[in-house]
Amino acid sequence: MSPAQPPAAPVCLADYAALARHRLDDNARAYFEGGAADELTLAANVQAWRDIPLSARVLRPMAGAHTRVTLFGRTLAHPILLAPVAYQRLAHPDGELATAQAAAALQAGMVLSTQSSVPVEDIARIVCTDPDAGPLWFQLYLQHDRGFTLDLVRRAEAAGCTALVLTVDAPVQGARDRERRAGFRLPPGVRAVHLDGLLPPRPARTLAAGQSALFDGLLADTPTWDDVAWLRAQTRLPLLLKGMTHPEDARLAQSLGADGLVVSNHGGRTLDTLPATAVLLPRIADAVGASLPLLVDGGIRRGTDVLKALVLGARAVLIGRPVVQALAVGGAHGVAHVLRLLRDELEIAMALTGCTSLDRIR
Ligand SMILES: Cc1cc2nc3c(=O)[nH]c(=O)nc-3n(C[C@H](O)[C@H](O)[C@H](O)COP(=O)(O)O)c2cc1C
Repeated sequence: MSPAQPPAAPVCLADYAALARHRLDDNARAYFEGGAADELTLAANVQAWRDIPLSARVLRPMAGAHTRVTLFGRTLAHPILLAPVAYQRLAHPDGELATAQAAAALQAGMVLSTQSSVPVEDIARIVCTDPDAGPLWFQLYLQHDRGFTLDLVRRAEAAGCTALVLTVDAPVQGARDRERRAGFRLPPGVRAVHLDGLLPPRPARTLAAGQSALFDGLLADTPTWDDVAWLRAQTRLPLLLKGMTHPEDARLAQSLGADGLVVSNHGGRTLDTLPATAVLLPRIADAVGASLPLLVDGGIRRGTDVLKALVLGARAVLIGRPVVQALAVGGAHGVAHVLRLLRDELEIAMALTGCTSLDRIR
């Protein structure tokens, strides 16, 4: 099949990616598909899972096998969560609402972005009122105004979110060449509803001669580890730090009371040439030990990838681009189908490797 011909009926996540390529305009495609700079990390994420071989085990009894995992005292039907992805109404008019419907129907945990194009309260009405749904977590970007950040935390708590995922790896956007080439801009009607018109403006700074607009302007009051300690003291919700790539940072996060970490290079969208997350995960797992739950994202496209991630030390995985690609192709049905496909593939991989429980997989 040539890349120009999209599959008639998608049977795997790559088929959805191919179909989405035809469905999205150049603007949205550059935003959703692109990575930083030469997109080496973006490509490495996918390739690294592929490069890990699995061993088959035969003739093992499989009755009673299951995909359940336990996270923060809650049993999840399976270890596949939806990563926070901003501006989903760029992919489909219903945006995060459709994603939430699919997540709830397929019992998948959903992490809602600070930069969601639908408010957290609307998402919670779908997810938190369904007793069979997976958890709803809120992804937080620390804002320059601590009072406003705290308002966001309280909003997420009040809506019913059961964990906070603090993303720490993107104080500044990576060099997004693909977006710049496409002249990416948000179309009218798509906005970050938790921020736009609500976040007080950043105090104006006058730069002295020779000062950097980035370091002395935008990043002058960028969050630091002190802000993580501050946030830890503000909420009783489990706090995960997302964007862990260095073992020393992982240990620091652990010492500051993080309840979990997301090993992530932001899907290759920040610092290009960072190693793939399949390479980083075992390093972080060694650094923090087995007691701190690790999640991982980046390039997970197959049930076998999920299995490998769990073998390498993750309790669960998140998927980003496959969600918005499926959303663009088929709305809530598309996202639900992608989740079903991935879970089916995971079950097949478990059966063929003789793995009856993901909790004891290491
Ligand atoms: C279009 C797009 C928008 C994203 N927006 C956010 C965001 O708002 N917050 C965040 O923490 N991560 C964001 N991410 C990163 C994802 O949460 C996740 O780390 C990444 O997509 C995983 O890689 P994958 O797309 O290969 O599955 C975004 C990723 C993409 C592709």
